[in-house]
Amino acid sequence: MRNLRSIGIAAGLALSVSVPALNAFASEPTVPPVPATFPAEGKIKYVARDSILEFKALPEYHEPGWVTEKFVKAGKLPPVKERLPKEPLVFKTGNMPNGVGVYGDTMRHVIGGRPEGWNYGAGQTQGWGGIDIGLSECLTRTAPLFQVEAKDTEPLPNLAKSWDWSADGHKLIMHLVEGAKWSDGVPFNADDVMFYWDDEVMDPNVSPLNGATQETFGVGTTLKKIDDYTVEWTFKDAFPKQHLYAMAYGTFCPGPAHILKPQHPKYSKNTYDQFKNAFPPEYMNMPVMGAWVPVEYRADDIIVMRRNPYYWKVDEKGNQLPYLNELHYKLSTWADRDVQAVAGAGDFSNLEQPENFVASLKRAAEPNAPARLAFGPRLIGYNLRLNFSANGWGNPDERGQALRELNRNEDFRKAVTMALDRKALGDSLVKGPFTAIYPGGLSSGTSFYDRKSTVYYPFDLEGAKAELAKAGLKDTDGDGFVNFPAGTAGGKNVEIVMLVNNDYTTDKSLAEGVVAQMEKLGLRIVLNGLNGTQRDATQYSGRFDWLIRRNEQELTSVVQNTVQLAPVGPKTSWDHRAPESGEVDLMPFEKDLVDIVNKFVSSADNNQRASLMRDFQKISTEHVYNIGLTEYPGALIINKRFSNIPQGTPIFMFNWAEDSIVRERVFVAADKQAKYELFPEELPGKPGDKGPM
Ligand code: GLA
Ligand code: CA
Repeated sequence: MRNLRSIGIAAGLALSVSVPALNAFASEPTVPPVPATFPAEGKIKYVARDSILEFKALPEYHEPGWVTEKFVKAGKLPPVKERLPKEPLVFKTGNMPNGVGVYGDTMRHVIGGRPEGWNYGAGQTQGWGGIDIGLSECLTRTAPLFQVEAKDTEPLPNLAKSWDWSADGHKLIMHLVEGAKWSDGVPFNADDVMFYWDDEVMDPNVSPLNGATQETFGVGTTLKKIDDYTVEWTFKDAFPKQHLYAMAYGTFCPGPAHILKPQHPKYSKNTYDQFKNAFPPEYMNMPVMGAWVPVEYRADDIIVMRRNPYYWKVDEKGNQLPYLNELHYKLSTWADRDVQAVAGAGDFSNLEQPENFVASLKRAAEPNAPARLAFGPRLIGYNLRLNFSANGWGNPDERGQALRELNRNEDFRKAVTMALDRKALGDSLVKGPFTAIYPGGLSSGTSFYDRKSTVYYPFDLEGAKAELAKAGLKDTDGDGFVNFPAGTAGGKNVEIVMLVNNDYTTDKSLAEGVVAQMEKLGLRIVLNGLNGTQRDATQYSGRFDWLIRRNEQELTSVVQNTVQLAPVGPKTSWDHRAPESGEVDLMPFEKDLVDIVNKFVSSADNNQRASLMRDFQKISTEHVYNIGLTEYPGALIINKRFSNIPQGTPIFMFNWAEDSIVRERVFVAADKQAKYELFPEELPGKPGDKGPM
């Protein structure tokens, strides 16, 4: 069935898809056209939230036989029962698509990023593609919620096994899992949580990888330790349940305080840079709470992770998880991830670059295809973002400053959005029913999306030119590009530096498309293409005029990373942050957006929240806050030998699919196991030691 449908899609690509004709001169704002229906293959099987997991002691526990034989019997490890918490996290069998699994085998990932080091809490990337997701365990977990109906949705317990609200709703007491241990056997407790909060989130010199700041958890929020397994949050608002989402990946995943604290400048002679870089990629066996531990790193080649013998989750039979002994991350390119996954040389890919859709679909439709491929909702999107800081973020020069002021000019933004031929941009990535016209704002795949509240300025080059003239820009020297008015930036051509992530073919294709389309408008764009890590650093320090950015969870789920929807704090927005000293210089409509987001976060009323997001969408698209480029569905590609992959897992919603498939309970049936383990029957060694135990 799946294969037939895939062939259908592949064959359909040749035919033209009917899209409502766009009136080239209709400059009146309207609503976006209804997107072509897309035959999503994966139907999600909805479940009740409390059917997924629980915390409880079981009568007996098990582990792979070789762990008992080689490690426990040799006195190198305590027995499994002693390594587990009093009440481990138990995944319920009924929620496991193929039930209780068996031990063995490897999941071979391929990634396009490169590790900077293991200090996630100090902002270092491990290369993405699921590495940091697998290392990190967070207070709550949201990725598996894609299978829970929106009305039943609240984050799942994880390191915080339960929580209670005070009667007035201003305090939240969280109970941490008791007796869980880091992968080196050291107990996990409230000190780890407090180190993350006090010395990483609250220390202005430290920025955790996914950008957690105090505002992420509400302006003025505080956290304190009550005892080893209890922490207490205090909020300005009553019952801000929304913050439970911020306690999931990637904003509340504490690192090992026993390893990190001695390197932190507050407790050592280190500088902040030395702290950040204290755990380079070569540093092996970094203690984690996640299911696998890094044991091998070869530059530009591979990172290997082995099972964490102290992992604190089990199945209902008492089998300690994970089932898979090893994970690989081949250090290659993102495009290669698709190629290898469909060919069977890799095991997993989020098919998210439309340039690879046709070839991947064809391969996956062949009868002997090694991998399954299933499309989900249209949740992958791109926006053009304009730097809105006119008070010094990123220290712009005279030209840069003049551009920031242009970016803040609504006529200018309308000119840009009206000059974009989004149909052509989408078709340049892939032909067929995949891409849709996306004006910006919330993704059409989220439950909060309302088409009627979306303001779309259709493609109209002449109208766009008129808007540009209204913004005061004319081509004074006749070279085809508009100039700044005399007296601004020397009256030179307006030249816009656009930041783009060079690691992705799609980002580069879209950037080139935008350059060409803006040239027709008379705007000259200069590309600043950087690798993902440098791109992030450049963006966070505000050194860009325009930026092309793939959408993140605030637009695809709304409830996750919500504060990134608007500049609610000095560092919460992608494109509008405060300079070192100072505040965010909000434009009037941004103030409205900030108010809406704050109300949304503090409201527990679903109808009110839906209505707030309709307002958000209206204001944000009407004032052209982000400039949408395109949106399309992604597909999960996964090797057919794996079991327990939930049907219809979207590649992105609350989090990426690497988290949504719940890798710790994924397994390979005994008769399908392959021999990919590079360190069979070995376990992680001591922190900092080379290689496994
Ligand atoms: C990168 C990839 C995504 C996903 C994430 C996980 O961003 O492009 O598909 O794997 O990493 O963090
Ligand atoms: Ca000119």
